[in-house]
Amino acid sequence: MNRYETVLKQLQAHPETWLVTGVAGFIGSNLLEKLLRTDQHVIGLDNFSTGKRRNLNEVQNSISENQWQRFRFIEGDIRDLATCREVCQGVDYILHEAALGSVPRSIEDPITSNESNVSGFLNMLVAARDAGVKRFVYAASSSTYGDHPGLPKVEDTIGKPLSPYAVTKYVNELYADVFAKTYGMELIGLRYFNVFGPRQDPEGAYAAVIPSWIRALIQGEPVFINGNGETSRDYCFVENVIQMNLLAATSTEPNAVNQVYNTAVNARTSLNELFDELQGRLLPHYPHLQSCKPVYRDFRKGDVLHSQADISKAAHLLGYEPSHPIDAGLDEALSWYMANL
Ligand SMILES: NC(=O)c1ccc[n+]([C@@H]2O[C@H](COP(=O)([O-])OP(=O)(O)OC[C@H]3O[C@@H](n4cnc5c(N)ncnc54)[C@H](O)[C@@H]3O)[C@@H](O)[C@H]2O)c1
Repeated sequence: MNRYETVLKQLQAHPETWLVTGVAGFIGSNLLEKLLRTDQHVIGLDNFSTGKRRNLNEVQNSISENQWQRFRFIEGDIRDLATCREVCQGVDYILHEAALGSVPRSIEDPITSNESNVSGFLNMLVAARDAGVKRFVYAASSSTYGDHPGLPKVEDTIGKPLSPYAVTKYVNELYADVFAKTYGMELIGLRYFNVFGPRQDPEGAYAAVIPSWIRALIQGEPVFINGNGETSRDYCFVENVIQMNLLAATSTEPNAVNQVYNTAVNARTSLNELFDELQGRLLPHYPHLQSCKPVYRDFRKGDVLHSQADISKAAHLLGYEPSHPIDAGLDEALSWYMANL
């Protein structure tokens, strides 16, 4: 039995109380589903700025009535300290996902991104500190590597941020470090690379590449590639992200705490390759894709060219073993989009 299987078993035998912020979003709702399936008690917070009620409904429909009874949802905003204090009461572990994602969104409106991602984050830290939670695990980001060209990315070698979003996520790490040192809190930051999977929003200008391309391909709309298509990313299926969150929250290894970890699979896929992978998988179901070609346009501001994670730190200190390489993840994600779009 690997470390993750052991953790799931232990949690099932001794349920804990978790707070998931951003619970109606893509990653938050997947965390919620796993925690409830493992018979945990969960408090969820969301202001529905990008999250959806239908994500919560889908979780409810996928688990037993008993498991759903262990969930308490609070509609509210992390920009309000009183709300943060309310949701932290009686909580063992916090999985903090609430933030405004997307580099282009932060370039359009840096102030609103900063309010949720920095002020909201600070509110959550203060509330968690005062409530005496055992551990605070938060969504950091690979955007913190910024303009550093080194590959694969290693946690302690970062460059300068390339967008307001990247600044906000780096500030989270700085605050976490200071709260650990100053108040003796236990915090772990997970630098997510490009996460994908069921329930990731395929709509709108700020949609991530995988869901937005799947939607466009299925609906016969053009697929745009920013740049020449050789830009590459370490695409990480959401199951791997769930594993990292649960390992980080429950690790009893003293050196594992107050650290940041790359959260990905240590592989690299270019946009051209990604397009081929998606088209190839969808073609048997959608014959109109036979002659479909991507449309190339300018590079996007704030994007890094290549990204790939060294995951040895997480493997070594947390026992992380990604269960889903990109292929297996794409299969699961595509089944979901084909059933739900
Ligand atoms: N998806 C990725 O590839 C990726 C990569 C790196 C980091 N992250 C981070 O992971 C976290 C989750 O991202 P996601 O992809 O699930 O995005 P998402 O937009 O689906 O989820 C974010 C959730 O937070 C909620 N939220 C936002 N601001 C809030 C506020 N002020 N108060 C309460 N709730 C608020 C939204 O309504 C939404 O439900 C975010 O912190 C994001 O920055 C994601």
